[in-house]
Amino acid sequence: MKVDDASCDVAVVGLGFVGLPVALMLARHGKRVVGVDIDETLLARLRAGECPIDEAEIADVFTHATTKANLRYSNQVPVSDAYIVAVPTPLHARKKVSDLSALVAATKSIVPALRKNALVIVESTIPPMCCEETLKPILETSGLAVGHDILLAHCPERLYPGNVAHEIVHNDRIIGACNSIAFERSSEIYAAFVKGNLSQTDMVTAEFCKLMENTYRDVNIALANELAMVAERLGTSVEAAIDLANKHPRVSLLRPGIGVGGHCIPIDPWFIAEVAPEETELITTARRINDRMPHVIATRIRRAVAELPDPLIGVFGVTYKPDVNDVRESPAWEIVHLLEQDGYRLEIADPVANVGSHKTLRELARGRDALVVLVPHRVAREELANHRAEILSALRSPILLSF
Ligand SMILES: NC(=O)c1ccc[n+]([C@@H]2O[C@H](COP(=O)([O-])OP(=O)(O)OC[C@H]3O[C@@H](n4cnc5c(N)ncnc54)[C@H](O)[C@@H]3O)[C@@H](O)[C@H]2O)c1
Repeated sequence: MKVDDASCDVAVVGLGFVGLPVALMLARHGKRVVGVDIDETLLARLRAGECPIDEAEIADVFTHATTKANLRYSNQVPVSDAYIVAVPTPLHARKKVSDLSALVAATKSIVPALRKNALVIVESTIPPMCCEETLKPILETSGLAVGHDILLAHCPERLYPGNVAHEIVHNDRIIGACNSIAFERSSEIYAAFVKGNLSQTDMVTAEFCKLMENTYRDVNIALANELAMVAERLGTSVEAAIDLANKHPRVSLLRPGIGVGGHCIPIDPWFIAEVAPEETELITTARRINDRMPHVIATRIRRAVAELPDPLIGVFGVTYKPDVNDVRESPAWEIVHLLEQDGYRLEIADPVANVGSHKTLRELARGRDALVVLVPHRVAREELANHRAEILSALRSPILLSF
């Protein structure tokens, strides 16, 4: 990438699920923004006025005249007062460690544009010490020293897919800054649109804190999943037991499920384990329990239809969680693949993800031997609550599993 000389207030590097809403909100609130990405197809779509985020309120910000006047898209990193980096930091699937190649490339691409007093904020999720040990040395190849000539901060993103417009404004944010000037400059940028509190800390605490949040969710989901497996052995209802246990004033068990998907919860705990493998027995065990859940659920489905010769099974829901259209890293798809490998005949439907032609559970149940609801989208929850008898009578045998 070469340097674009037209300067701006903020350059947002990486215009994906996280970076684009940030760029849009900054531009909508008066900052002069350049959105930078290496994906030319994405840039062409954005320039053509196509908003890739499937949320009406974000689309409204995208088309607002102020946003359009303040935001331009480029494949070149401009000279800018500040940079916000929001590129992918996936998990290396086999080694279970962070793959920082996109982040390293994005940080290197900023270096030629860096000028004295520039601020670099990393929103990507990163392992502890990444700012200090990986990003700071790259930025300092510019000849500018972090903390003296340029500023560095980590402001991890907590957005919840499906509720971006609300959360980007109302969530509290943590700003792990290299010094108090970096905190003040970062705060000034986020204060343009964030109504939540902005808390100051150091870079490693911010890195650790983000990972802790998703690890907390993962470990507690694993506990619920383990209790569900015990309940199955006991022949009792885990749901009923959890409802009763949660009446204890200091107990708040999560619900068991079919596994954990998405780009954050199954990945982030490994970033802690990567820097402290000796100390993370609980975290890695929880990860493995949740990873095993699709196999556990597939076994439960196999058992439920074991008496039926060559059953035709309706499967509802393939997204990684309810009420989003994202099927990446979805445990539901993994279950589908496991059953298909066994040779089961499946009819798959997910109206939220536009998969299959059936829009309702009743339609999907008609003429099938069993129905499995893997992802309880709101439409399915409502139908199960209001039309359970009709669903069961549409099935050839009354086998209805809902997770
Ligand atoms: N998606 C979420 O819900 C979520 C929530 C919190 C945090 N995060 C974290 O935020 C970061 C970004 O995630 P995302 O979901 O927005 O990713 P994404 O895949 O949706 O988008 C990333 C964008 O970065 C671009 N990119 C890659 N390399 C680049 C480079 N060198 N220069 C410029 N652009 C480059 C890609 O083309 C892509 O458009 C990750 O670290 C992720 O873990 C994501």
